[in-house]
Amino acid sequence: MQEQDWEAVVAAATRAPSIHNTQPWRFTASDGRLELYLDEGRALPVLDPTRRQQVISCGIVVEFALVALAAAGTAGEVELLPDPADPDHLATVRVTGPHDTTDADRSLAEAIQQRHTVRAPFLPRPVAAELLDQLQAQAGVFGVWFKPITRSEEEVATVFLISRAEEMEQGDPAYRAELQSWLRTDPGSVDGVPLETVPTDDPAARPSDWLIRDFVVGSREPHLFRPPADPAAPPPEVERPTVVLMGSEADDRAAWLQSGRALGRVLLQATAAGLAASPLTQALDWPATRTQLSSRLSLVGHPQMLIRMGYPAEGPVGVVSGRRPVGEVLRLESGG
Ligand SMILES: Cc1cc2nc3c(=O)[nH]c(=O)nc-3n(C[C@H](O)[C@H](O)[C@H](O)COP(=O)(O)O)c2cc1C
Repeated sequence: MQEQDWEAVVAAATRAPSIHNTQPWRFTASDGRLELYLDEGRALPVLDPTRRQQVISCGIVVEFALVALAAAGTAGEVELLPDPADPDHLATVRVTGPHDTTDADRSLAEAIQQRHTVRAPFLPRPVAAELLDQLQAQAGVFGVWFKPITRSEEEVATVFLISRAEEMEQGDPAYRAELQSWLRTDPGSVDGVPLETVPTDDPAARPSDWLIRDFVVGSREPHLFRPPADPAAPPPEVERPTVVLMGSEADDRAAWLQSGRALGRVLLQATAAGLAASPLTQALDWPATRTQLSSRLSLVGHPQMLIRMGYPAEGPVGVVSGRRPVGEVLRLESGG
């Protein structure tokens, strides 16, 4: 079998989104196998003490690796949590043989390069119901449910719980310090969230019911505020994104990995269809608001991810978040 170019696969896979762009992963590769580990040194002890959101991020990286393999003409299979003695050994990706690359494989691989989190308001154009059905079916392949928040009482409860969680977070100095330590102003940063990719105006002034995580709460300075809107101008149109809750029956590392894999596929399919997305996970950060969300929405199982989706405004992409060089996250073992 042709020797696998694991560096190329890992370069593509690590374009995966991760909570605060922590990139909490490391890999080893040998022969036809890629091993994925949770990186101990990149934890978020305040926001994510169980590492649930970081394991979800690693699930996304697994799926992006499979997409990159398929586009390169290689079939692969995944074993999750292959070593019961090592819960941080999250997955093994094994090459199983050649694969006839399809147009769909190529378009998902292109979507890896195109996708990035879009926090700006979306165009006032609804996402087609058939597309949402396709994304729902895709999530279902991983045993993950995908629930668009459509009923107004569900929307009111979800918006309220996000606001509650955001308020609790902003009042917590440890949360603010941790968030600030992942905010980046240097355009060459290889991790963390670039300031240019987050809204810096007053979140309450945004024409949307959906509160984007306030990344600059600990560091907002007067010069970051946009000038106040012209009082004579018509009010901006209120954003009506499609908001989707994804979740799983269980709430353990296997379920988090599967949720991440489903999210990875959903994000790539959505990107290929011209959509953009941004996670809104504040309400899921805290056990209290996460449990309340489950009960207010009568969910069966556990919410794992809340995302807003929609069509992005035209215009240059601008700054995208950085990634650590492949040599920092991948160790090639002999024969790899
Ligand atoms: C599990 C998870 C949770 C996230 N939560 C949020 C969030 O609450 N708010 C937000 O604006 N972005 C959130 N993000 C997006 C990350 O900040 C983003 O993926 C990362 O900064 C890398 O940027 P990129 O997606 O543009 O590549 C989340 C991403 C993941 C994977």
